[in-house]
Amino acid sequence: MKQVNVGLLGLGNVGKGTYTILTKHADKISGMSGSQIDVKKILVSDVNKKRDIDVPKEILTTDAESILCDPDIDVIVELIGGIDTAYFYIKQAILRGKHVVTANKAVIATHGPELMDLAKKNRVLLLHEASVAGGIPIITAMLKPLAGNEFTEIIGIVNGTTNYILTQMTENNMEYDTALRLAQEKGFAEADPTSDVEGEDAAYKLCILMLIAFGVYVDPKDIPCEGITKIAKADIDFASQFGYKLKLLAGAKNTNGRLKYYVSPTLVAESHPLASVNNEFNALFVKGDAVGELMFYGKGAGPMPTGSAVVGDIISVAKCIGTDLLDVTPAQPYPVTEDDLELIGESKSMFYINFLVGDEPGSLGKVSTAFGNHGISIQSVMQRSQGEAAVPVIYILHETKRKQLDEALKEITDNNFVQEITSILRVLS
Ligand SMILES: NC(=O)c1ccc[n+]([C@@H]2O[C@H](COP(=O)([O-])OP(=O)(O)OC[C@H]3O[C@@H](n4cnc5c(N)ncnc54)[C@H](OP(=O)(O)O)[C@@H]3O)[C@@H](O)[C@H]2O)c1
Repeated sequence: MKQVNVGLLGLGNVGKGTYTILTKHADKISGMSGSQIDVKKILVSDVNKKRDIDVPKEILTTDAESILCDPDIDVIVELIGGIDTAYFYIKQAILRGKHVVTANKAVIATHGPELMDLAKKNRVLLLHEASVAGGIPIITAMLKPLAGNEFTEIIGIVNGTTNYILTQMTENNMEYDTALRLAQEKGFAEADPTSDVEGEDAAYKLCILMLIAFGVYVDPKDIPCEGITKIAKADIDFASQFGYKLKLLAGAKNTNGRLKYYVSPTLVAESHPLASVNNEFNALFVKGDAVGELMFYGKGAGPMPTGSAVVGDIISVAKCIGTDLLDVTPAQPYPVTEDDLELIGESKSMFYINFLVGDEPGSLGKVSTAFGNHGISIQSVMQRSQGEAAVPVIYILHETKRKQLDEALKEITDNNFVQEITSILRVLS
């Protein structure tokens, strides 16, 4: 049987999950891949660290070169995280003719096109199924069984931390800070949750999804991105009275060659399949011109779900070793250029606006007229009378451009028709 040696970079959450699956299901994996797959060395930052996994101590090392230069190692599995060091190791591995598997969304979103190109030139595979939505095999699905489709839309709940927080705010009546603390206690949020709660993590994943689905690279920094830190419990409650759930969505839509994309807290109608995706779960809603609508659902993080995707990639690599790679290399992204697709960032959307309005006659009429002046039509209005001097008034607006909305809001605030704009949220239409 063919021997395939793996150099694992990292033995943290995902490294441990990957090692566990490779050892637990060794017989099945060798049957599936036609290879004996062994982890030969593991890079860690501290070999003496106490670990809750049984790994022979002699295969641990802090010397990356001893792995990257080892001629017996066929596959480098990068699971250290971060950008610069991981990018350097992946590049070195490719240049030395080694196949690479990674779960690192930050590296793929930042350096993906360059690394994929380099891998192609060096005739090695660079697989990264675990970089988007952990255990959900969305990348392989788009590259293989769905490769015959032209994709028109992808909408995802791709960050388990924020979905957990929003679910707790919705179902268990928690304020944002309490829900975040609970997520940290349960291991669903990191000590520094900034990348998750500000939407950066979701933007990395959307960047990768757009590269695979539409063949275009949009720098994650250029994706209009809003996180969930300013979400108030009151808005979640008001939205539910209109029949909506609040989710952090990462979306991209190709309408007649114009690609629109965003990461944003968004109200989703309770009847939409994404509305029932709760807690740490992830989901992706995909539309292809041939297949129609598809929904993928599962665990987007955690040692074992993420390890499942990493091991799947290792098996794909093992199958290729010793064969003519080009026959079995997953299809490259459809080579669309910026001339084929017009990248225009944030799309037209329906909006939810929460105003604080003084209890004076005619206020609502003036606000509604201001919207009308800017060509914005109103789907519904709700006034929450609390017997106070100022009351919340919620508008759900039909599709409009954000620029048009901002102009209408300027007219409303300049003329003091309302006391305050409490919040503005997108509504999925
Ligand atoms: N956690 C998830 O559920 C999840 C899901 C999807 C994707 N990912 C991605 O998977 C990757 C790994 O995440 P993780 O949660 O497993 O991270 P982690 O728990 O922090 O583990 C990182 C591992 O890498 C080692 N390491 C870090 N920097 C190193 C360096 N410069 N030199 C040598 N060793 C180094 C650490 O060594 P020590 O053990 O000695 O400290 C540790 O074993 C990241 O790219 C992440 O975005 C994670």
